[in-house]
Amino acid sequence: MARREEQKKILCVGLVCLDIISVVEEFPREDSDSRCLSQRWQRGGNASNSCTVLSLLGSPCAFMGSLCAGPVASFIADDFSRRSIDISAVAWQPTGLTPSACCVVCTSSASRTVLLADTNIAEVTSEDFDAVDLSAFKWIHWEGRNADEQVKMMARVERHNQTVAPEQRIVVSVEIEKPREELYRLFPCADVVFASKDVARHLGFGTPADALRGLRPRLRPGAVLICAWAEQGADAADGDGTPLHSDAFPPERLLDTLGAGDTFNAAVIHRLAGGAPLREALTFGCKVAGAKCGFHGYDDIARAALD
Ligand code: ADP
Ligand code: FRU
Repeated sequence: MARREEQKKILCVGLVCLDIISVVEEFPREDSDSRCLSQRWQRGGNASNSCTVLSLLGSPCAFMGSLCAGPVASFIADDFSRRSIDISAVAWQPTGLTPSACCVVCTSSASRTVLLADTNIAEVTSEDFDAVDLSAFKWIHWEGRNADEQVKMMARVERHNQTVAPEQRIVVSVEIEKPREELYRLFPCADVVFASKDVARHLGFGTPADALRGLRPRLRPGAVLICAWAEQGADAADGDGTPLHSDAFPPERLLDTLGAGDTFNAAVIHRLAGGAPLREALTFGCKVAGAKCGFHGYDDIARAALD
């Protein structure tokens, strides 16, 4: 029997890593040896962070990415479980290293500097994805990574959607964050595309409005394009190209911008998946992401969403 639509989850496919986060007042000089204000381990990775935020906002969700059994993966798996995020679709790799990142969060400049090691583990393949029971999901979000495989995964969802009633179709979204040519083939594969300002600039667009106009021909007809632009907020164009804008909602003090983009994506998806209009989802995304920049980590997300 078809699952009831409201019980279906949102699946995020992409990176999970261990973030070792050092919070500093001033960014360290090269070859110096200094104390940080605080240090913590945190589950990271764009798709994984977006799951954290979805879950805290009240959207049942699941994560799919690669892990390799060991102490780092155990820390990560425990944290997924603490947030009630389903990891039954995780691709457990027999060899390799679970990705990790050294992150410096600098409070005086509000910067977040990341050094990521994620090339010692196999990526999720389309064969892994073939084992996923699509009927459990109402929305699947991809963080653009191994585009060749991801295109095949999205094609599977497309085929599935052609066999079900319109109200049971799975919405597909993709984040194209890194300015890498191979990722650009993901533009026409989704209903909702999040393109970063780095990508927009790399493709020659200097403003969000230019990006909306210039990237549109790359999308499939009727798709939504969303472009976040840090302290300038975010812009979007709905299916017929109508442009929308939301200002940013800066917190009293910028403390931790790590994962602001992942928070924004999750908050927008949460609202769109709940049936809200794009304009409302865009403003909600900026509100939650802006508030997130005012506290460390994600624990206060639910409160931020209510303010
Ligand atoms: P990323 O973390 O991927 O670099 P962005 O910088 O584009 O993401 O930011 C995503 C969203 O987070 C923005 O649309 C904005 O709403 C919010 N945001 C990011 N930085 C700030 C800031 N300095 N002040 C207020 N809001 C911010
Ligand atoms: C934040 C983040 C971190 C991770 C890095 C990977 O957006 O996902 O959690 O270390 O980016 O690029």
